[in-house]
Amino acid sequence: MEKGFLGYDSSLMLDVVVCALVLVVPVLVYSISLAKFSKKFGLHKAIQLGLGVALLLTVALFEIDIRMHGGWQNIVNKDPASPRVSPEQLQLISQSLTVHLVFAISTPVLWIWTTVEALRRFPDPTAPSAYSRRHKTLAWLTTVDLVLTSATGLLFYYLAFIAA
Ligand code: HEM
Repeated sequence: MEKGFLGYDSSLMLDVVVCALVLVVPVLVYSISLAKFSKKFGLHKAIQLGLGVALLLTVALFEIDIRMHGGWQNIVNKDPASPRVSPEQLQLISQSLTVHLVFAISTPVLWIWTTVEALRRFPDPTAPSAYSRRHKTLAWLTTVDLVLTSATGLLFYYLAFIAA
């Protein structure tokens, strides 16, 4: 079975997802700084839409990959005859995945909600409006959720492929 490109006994798509999880945070910080400090609202909008599409694509490819492997446990332990990870380690990895899933499932919901509402309520060309306060609350919530998705996803990868 194929491995990832980061040098661990992972899978190609899992490594792509890990890179996406790392890259998405600085891009998001940059995009927020464009709105907050540079007042480049049009560029902020474009980057947020691009990030949304990129994230959805990554999640879709990741889901296909996991299904093709018959579940994440078959990626962690590729050879059932000689498992790389002990049952105790597998339990800890599974717990980290459960925590990750809480954020990974709520983030797309918040992301789509934030985006759809912003597209509907901000004027075109994009500029601050009466909707700004609501957008900031929703958008910061989405941002925190995404950062936690990223952090817990990286923790899962660390426990499953680097530490184990
Ligand atoms: C998930 C998608 C998005 C996230 C996470 C996000 C994030 C943010 C954050 C955190 C701020 C507040 C910065 C501050 O504290 O001053 C902000 C401001 C802003 N965003 Fe977004 N944004 C998203 C999508 C969009 C979209 C699609 C539009 C346009 C249609 C947009 C337009 C704006 C505008 C105009 C502001 C400035 C509001 C003001 O200062 O009055 N955002 N965004």
